[in-house]
Amino acid sequence: MKNTENNLMKALVFHGTGNLALEDKQKPTIKQSTDAIVRITTTTICGTDLHILKGDVPRVTDGRILGHEGVGIIGELGSEVLGLKVGDKVLISLITSCGKCSFCKKAMYSHCLNGGWLLGNSIDGTQAEYVRIPYADNGLYLLPPDADDEAIVMLSCILPTGLECGTLQGKVKPGDIVAIVGAGPVGLAALLTTQLYSPAEIVMIDIDDNRLEVARSFGATQVVNSSDGKATEQVMALTHAAGVDVAIEAVGLSATFDICQEIIAPGGHIANVGVHGKSAELHLEKLWASNITLTTHLVDGGTTAMLLRMVRSGRLDSKKLVSHRFGLPEIMKAYNTFGNAAMEHALKVVINLPA
Ligand SMILES: NC(=O)c1ccc[n+]([C@@H]2O[C@H](COP(=O)([O-])OP(=O)(O)OC[C@H]3O[C@@H](n4cnc5c(N)ncnc54)[C@H](O)[C@@H]3O)[C@@H](O)[C@H]2O)c1
Ligand SMILES: [Zn+2]
Ligand SMILES: [Zn+2]
Repeated sequence: MKNTENNLMKALVFHGTGNLALEDKQKPTIKQSTDAIVRITTTTICGTDLHILKGDVPRVTDGRILGHEGVGIIGELGSEVLGLKVGDKVLISLITSCGKCSFCKKAMYSHCLNGGWLLGNSIDGTQAEYVRIPYADNGLYLLPPDADDEAIVMLSCILPTGLECGTLQGKVKPGDIVAIVGAGPVGLAALLTTQLYSPAEIVMIDIDDNRLEVARSFGATQVVNSSDGKATEQVMALTHAAGVDVAIEAVGLSATFDICQEIIAPGGHIANVGVHGKSAELHLEKLWASNITLTTHLVDGGTTAMLLRMVRSGRLDSKKLVSHRFGLPEIMKAYNTFGNAAMEHALKVVINLPA
């Protein structure tokens, strides 16, 4: 096809560690009959995008359009997409699933043999004017035209992640003492969804006082700034040396995984959520007799429809995770703001692309 100006769009492109650029790229086209092309109206940046930028996710190669979160309008549909029509407003799930393979049949959509986490990873993502969504009937959620983009875009990744990888894998139950290490958007999403299961105490741990204050306003009963390296001592003091029933790791560093191992009570659950770029040590010399469970989990998006209902009904206020707003031309500034969250007092930064 001739590369006319009409076929071009603006997109945020990864060019290796530490290197991003807003560029003209070819608009995506339908490749499979199950695809949709979505015109993005709102997207955002994830902690995982920062890991990609740091070089922690080597699968992401030079030239990839980043982003796995978005809300938009269907522009074009493959002939086999049955549940959607052009002009529909949709939420994009970060997970692509064929619905037919052995992992999809087990509801492990993130491990779909024909999909999984592809967007902004092994195929072009949502930080662009247009994106191609494979298996659109499964990866897109129909929204009413009046749905609030900024509230809904929190459901592409962070809320299902906090719920599925943190709260549910951690088996939070009434009366539990829960610690969440990392008060970024994912840790805060774990904080919001943990409260659906009535824990007695939620201790939030981070090095960013602003995010800890936000955590307190979102329902944390205790906050611990771990910059002095004494988080373990503080949590043990707060729990009268008992430790915590559930420790959710939402950073992705060996130091924060260590805190989880040090504060977990006998019989407790450590739920790892963070993307780790380097190995972390498992302290079996201390934990072999502690009856703990350790889970790792890639978000499946199986709870997205349920979370959508909760946001629509007002039961879950996802919009309060948004701290900054930018246009697409300012996306580099948006990355700087999110990447310097402590200095900028940033939570989730959204990028709005008006029609
Ligand atoms: N498992 C999954 O499916 C999945 C999905 C989405 C995101 N993630 C991962 O979840 C993690 C959190 O994502 P996010 O968007 O909230 O990221 P983020 O970068 O905004 O937040 C990370 C938080 O960790 C804090 N932190 C950094 N170093 C620390 C330390 N030494 N001690 C205590 N706190 C420290 C930071 O201050 C920040 O508040 C990332 O690793 C991301 O890649 C995993
Ligand atoms: Zn994400
Ligand atoms: Zn599948």
